Amino acid sequence: MVLGVNIDHIAVLREARKVNSPNLIDALSLVERGGGDQITIHLREDRRHIVDSDLEAIINFSVLPVNLELSVNSEIINLASQIRPHRATIVPEKRAEVTTEGGLDLKNNFDVIREKIEILKNNDIEVSLFIDPNVESIELSKKLNADWIELHTGTFANLYLMLNSNLSRTDHSIDELKKFSRKELEQKLDRACRDLEESAILGNSLGLKVAGGHGLNYQNIKLFNNIAKRSHIREVNIGQSIVARSIFVGLEKAVREMRELLI
Ligand code: PXP
Repeated sequence: MVLGVNIDHIAVLREARKVNSPNLIDALSLVERGGGDQITIHLREDRRHIVDSDLEAIINFSVLPVNLELSVNSEIINLASQIRPHRATIVPEKRAEVTTEGGLDLKNNFDVIREKIEILKNNDIEVSLFIDPNVESIELSKKLNADWIELHTGTFANLYLMLNSNLSRTDHSIDELKKFSRKELEQKLDRACRDLEESAILGNSLGLKVAGGHGLNYQNIKLFNNIAKRSHIREVNIGQSIVARSIFVGLEKAVREMRELLI
């Protein structure tokens, strides 16, 4: 599987002090040496981590293809069209969220997303849509002429976490799961795995290339591999868990450890 490493969280640490350390450009070669295949970054409307100058520098210096996550914000779409990353992944964006909380609502934003996809594709940028794993989103992605879909693995990851960790701090999305019994959580995880698998199979059958991402880590990736093997998910984009581990073992090793776990 292709490993896209999302380096936003390195920029989060930098922005905590507004200095140039840790330097994102130094991260590029370490990701490559660790066996990463792609650099993924999210230029958010609020510029809370990656900023415009990062985007330009990363595109110029990365030997790996760059996958830019972005919203349908016109200014950012125009910027992407000028700077031309290898791929643009359109994601939903809400100002108050800690991280991307769900897939795109393609039905209610069909026209605006279609217009933005056209602009990006006219500039030779391949387009991916970050969607929840369900039939409607996949069929709409096809109608929208996307090249890729990235299946949101957040539900899978949250359920896995509930069942396999002693949670000391939880986010809101996990809090909602607390009312369920262990058996119900197991059934839900089973359903989430099947949703991912069936969605990937459908996506592939429609000619869409299929990736997955969000909340994947060194523990749940083993179960995710099984899903990916059965349904031909060809890429993952992983950020928080790799950057968190890199604080203790270094970025190159953190990437290599994930690389070795992936099919
Ligand atoms: N893929 C997409 C589309 C995302 O928005 C994110 C989070 O920025 C990721 C992958 C990586 O998620 P995580 O940091 O939880 O590994």
